[in-house]
Amino acid sequence: MIPANTVQEIIDTAKVEDVVGDYVNLKRRGVNLIGNCPFHNEKTPSFTVSPTKNIYKCFGCGKAGNSVQFMMDHEQYSFPEALKYLAKKYGIEIAEVEKSPEQRQEAQLHDSLYIINEYARDYYQEQMLETDTGKSVALHYFKERGFREETIKKFGLGFAPEKKDNFTLNAVNKGYKADLLKKLGLTTNYGSDFFRNRVMFAIHNLSGKVIGFGGRILQKNVKAPKYINSPETEIYNKSRVLYGSYFAKKGIRKLDECIMVEGYTDVISLHQAGIDNVVASSGTSLTVDQIQLVKRFSQNMKILYDGDAAGVKAALRGLDLVLEQDMNVRVVLLPEGEDPDSYLQKVGTTAFREYITDNAKDFILFKTQLLLEEAAGDPIKKAELIQDIVSSIAKIPDPIKRSLYVKECSNVMGVDENLLIAESNKTVSQNEEKKKQERANRIRREAQLAKRKGQIARGEAVPFPSEESNFPESETPYANIEQGNLAPSNQGSSQESKSSNEFQEKDIIRILISSGNRIFDKEENQTIAQFLLMNLEEVLSDFDNKKYEIILNEVVRLVKDKKEITPGHFTNHQNAEIQQIAIDVLHSPFEYSPNWEEIHNMPLRNQTMPEENFANDGMQALQRFKLKKVIKMCELNQGRIQTAMNEKDEDQIMKLLKVQKHLLEMRNVIAKSLNTVIIK
Ligand code: CTP
Ligand code: MN
Repeated sequence: MIPANTVQEIIDTAKVEDVVGDYVNLKRRGVNLIGNCPFHNEKTPSFTVSPTKNIYKCFGCGKAGNSVQFMMDHEQYSFPEALKYLAKKYGIEIAEVEKSPEQRQEAQLHDSLYIINEYARDYYQEQMLETDTGKSVALHYFKERGFREETIKKFGLGFAPEKKDNFTLNAVNKGYKADLLKKLGLTTNYGSDFFRNRVMFAIHNLSGKVIGFGGRILQKNVKAPKYINSPETEIYNKSRVLYGSYFAKKGIRKLDECIMVEGYTDVISLHQAGIDNVVASSGTSLTVDQIQLVKRFSQNMKILYDGDAAGVKAALRGLDLVLEQDMNVRVVLLPEGEDPDSYLQKVGTTAFREYITDNAKDFILFKTQLLLEEAAGDPIKKAELIQDIVSSIAKIPDPIKRSLYVKECSNVMGVDENLLIAESNKTVSQNEEKKKQERANRIRREAQLAKRKGQIARGEAVPFPSEESNFPESETPYANIEQGNLAPSNQGSSQESKSSNEFQEKDIIRILISSGNRIFDKEENQTIAQFLLMNLEEVLSDFDNKKYEIILNEVVRLVKDKKEITPGHFTNHQNAEIQQIAIDVLHSPFEYSPNWEEIHNMPLRNQTMPEENFANDGMQALQRFKLKKVIKMCELNQGRIQTAMNEKDEDQIMKLLKVQKHLLEMRNVIAKSLNTVIIK
């Protein structure tokens, strides 16, 4: 663990324009610097670096952060790795603080496992390069396959000899613990070597550490499996790893495309030929984790299938998973009998590149055509096919993309477009309904949890209406109105109110972050943050945009600990979410919700910039937020009055009218205060 003050020192010292400047060609533009974004492909630069705020933001793809974040995003460093890199760059010494015993043990275990794997890789390599059998069998084999020496080294290829326990004896002799050798699967439970008489492929994680091995048998016609692989360990989780990802991450980002193949040798071959955006799923079907790994680098994926892959169709079904993750998937079917490696060797790099460019088909269209051929002349099969395709299309989150697919597929299949639209809409809304249910359940659970934890702070002074339905159904709406209390309603679309409150809430967050520490009330020596928190106390748990709560909580903590509230505290925060929100609100132009003036008939007048106007700004933001809430309540209540009138429920009408009166009064008070706040 790196001590907090060192972290701060590194963040303060590292100049974002220097750090980014090592990777991006930056040009001065006013107070900022600007360049082509390294995170997405662009021709006109929209990547902005602000030396004064010490942060960067791309207005094209939205990536943003400080120097540490940049190194994490650009080099795929972990947080400590990024800090260490920067510390080195700026000559800052890191004295690591003590870890807890458990942390230390875990870190030590991981380190030991990596070290042993490294030893194993070196051993296998030595066996290949320095022994006669190794040379004549393994090295010869790899060279035969066209792998050059530097490729063999780069990918950590090697040879595990036939001998029963040569590796294990050597390793134990060197002092490596037998139980760890077993844990890594290098040694069997009986103490002999697990990998024997096989050529070896080291498997690396994203940072290039060896996490496991694959071993390929060379003899033909033996019963043993062609490949055997390391077992799952603390450092090797098959479903999270893509073979070659360490070598491919840069290429994938640069070309904004990931090529997915099946085999180890395919990856190695293509990399050697300079096609370096290639990874392999290692023979298994893709997992969500693997897709998300790719998605960190690019949203575009091209899958190369062997020409004779019997399982192409089965594999296609699994691919809906990729659509759900909002990836653009294209598929290339290689010629009969070829895999990427063999085809590349056969036709050479240029022709190979051309082939995979020319023959890449959109996944859904590919699937449609493939299944269509199969269903030719069979109406039942064709009906199934339509269902199948529709369910794939419905998984695509983007409605525009969806409608384009519907059009294309109706063409290809010769089915009426309207029919497809109807079918896909049905499936989409079923999916959405399911998701909504899940979300509602989650929110309810979270609310209950928060309530139990006593986090819902309700002030006594001016109780404030809430639209969240974390109150029991049985409670009458507005039951407390006579005591001057407004209980929350159980109705109303929270979805709608979420977006409508976004501006007001964002505004408050912006003020807290940008001016939280400035004095609001001189006599009371009260800061803006203190003022806002005091007045927000009763509605803290009512923020519709839950993402902002994390900022509120952070401000509460800072105020409580009497710490300074500075923009930098948030933009450099370790918590990536806090950092992103802060950068977002500070960077977004000073904005009010569109049409605020017209809707509320309330001129915003000539605003000074928020930096100079923080006191009024703070007060207004608060009032606007409250006003928004009350107006919402009025609308809801109006609906209820209407219902009661339809049902001729006199009692209820009277009760609700009273409520309405109270709400309208409240609205007027706030509106008036907003109109009379003088903005200088
Ligand atoms: N695989 C495996 N276990 C097997 C067979 C295959 O783990 N018994 C995985 C390996 O990661 C392999 C991939 O599936 O790389 C693809 O298998 P295959 O096409 O048979 O192997 P290639 O890598 O193409 O090997 P080669 O070209 O040497 O035959
Ligand atoms: Mn092959």
